[in-house]
Amino acid sequence: MLWQAKKLTITEMMILLLCLFLFAERTCGYGDHPCSDYKKLSEADRAATYQKLMRKSDSRRSWKEHWYRFVGKAGDKIASMEGDGKGCLMNPSCGAKFPGYLMKKHPGNLQPGTNFEATVCFSKGKTCCAKTQRIKIMKCKDFFIYKLPRSCLKRGRYCGTGIEKKPDCDKKKLLFGLSKTYAAKSCKEIKELRKDAESGVYWMNKTNPIQVYCDMETEGGGWTLVYSYIFTNFRSFRSGSNSLTPRPNWPVSDQYANIPISTEAPKSETDLNALDFKIWKKLGHEFMVKSNINHHIACKEGTGSLVEFKQGSLNCRIIKNIANKCHNYVPDQLILHSAGNPAQSTLGPDLIRSQSSSFLKEYYYFEASTRTRNWPTHDPCRTNNLNHRTDVARPRGNIYIRE
Ligand SMILES: *[C@@H]1O[C@H](CO)[C@@H](O)[C@H](O)[C@H]1NC(C)=O
Repeated sequence: MLWQAKKLTITEMMILLLCLFLFAERTCGYGDHPCSDYKKLSEADRAATYQKLMRKSDSRRSWKEHWYRFVGKAGDKIASMEGDGKGCLMNPSCGAKFPGYLMKKHPGNLQPGTNFEATVCFSKGKTCCAKTQRIKIMKCKDFFIYKLPRSCLKRGRYCGTGIEKKPDCDKKKLLFGLSKTYAAKSCKEIKELRKDAESGVYWMNKTNPIQVYCDMETEGGGWTLVYSYIFTNFRSFRSGSNSLTPRPNWPVSDQYANIPISTEAPKSETDLNALDFKIWKKLGHEFMVKSNINHHIACKEGTGSLVEFKQGSLNCRIIKNIANKCHNYVPDQLILHSAGNPAQSTLGPDLIRSQSSSFLKEYYYFEASTRTRNWPTHDPCRTNNLNHRTDVARPRGNIYIRE
């Protein structure tokens, strides 16, 4: 025994006992022990999840074989295969082309001060263990250190267990609605997932991706544009030759509603088109009408429904007063058989205000025929009259749907 061979001073004895206590059966020199004389590997790009190729390498001449400890953003251990031999780090990891990690699970139950030989794999392309290298692992009090030689593989690098924190790594959420792959269900869904989404064109419908325009501002946004129209004879508004154009493929009399049908989603408020009417109800049941000649309104269903094309009551509210007259009035019913239509034909949904004292109570009538004497009413005073604005350069209207 050591103390029999040599007479020790009290201080030397104390140090020896302390060392024995800390490092079990390790020989305890008076010089530096690896557990207090290691180099730190702390770079954030050494984390296994750092997946940008940075041409980092531990094969340079400046790398010296030494005891190393992983700290900070690099992680607290060397990376390892998950389980035993399953899963491997793919290029790039820890900023390197050939990421290195333990071939087996990281040992957990080493005695402090003992060291352990282990194998590091360097993966290359799809090969998990293209090159291997022997290293040593030592358990210190509550951390591990590793004796790492210069990487045998050019551009090989020892990866740590650190997890790279990205500001928002939820790719799906970021890209939602922005590509066919991440097509959304509706504008509402996009707005719910991305509060900062702006009005514009987005991808919708994963099965058959199409582009739609979303209003992301009005009343919380989430409105899908389904219809953009103009008038066929705005200057003679009350003549039979005046109608909306184009018209959606909603179920109206083909005999009288002689206006071209669109089934292509409008990409803006001035892109004259209409989304296939069968899809409207899949986007929701609330609708909003915006026109630059009549007030903007939004309606929830009562017993009536626009998307189901069903007569009945509506609960409408004003969104914005546009016309100069009759501010804050809204319709309260949807009817389909407007007065004067031949053979009771339906030529488009008709939004009326049932309490109006006039005989005809039309507020918005989406009429699409130049064959009857009727015309597409846009009357804020809900009396089927010419109370709309007449001073706008390009009179038009839009319908939006929301869940
Ligand atoms: C998506 O497209 C398919 C195929 O055109 C259609 O059947 C379906 O109704 C659409 N769904 C929605 C929610 O737009």
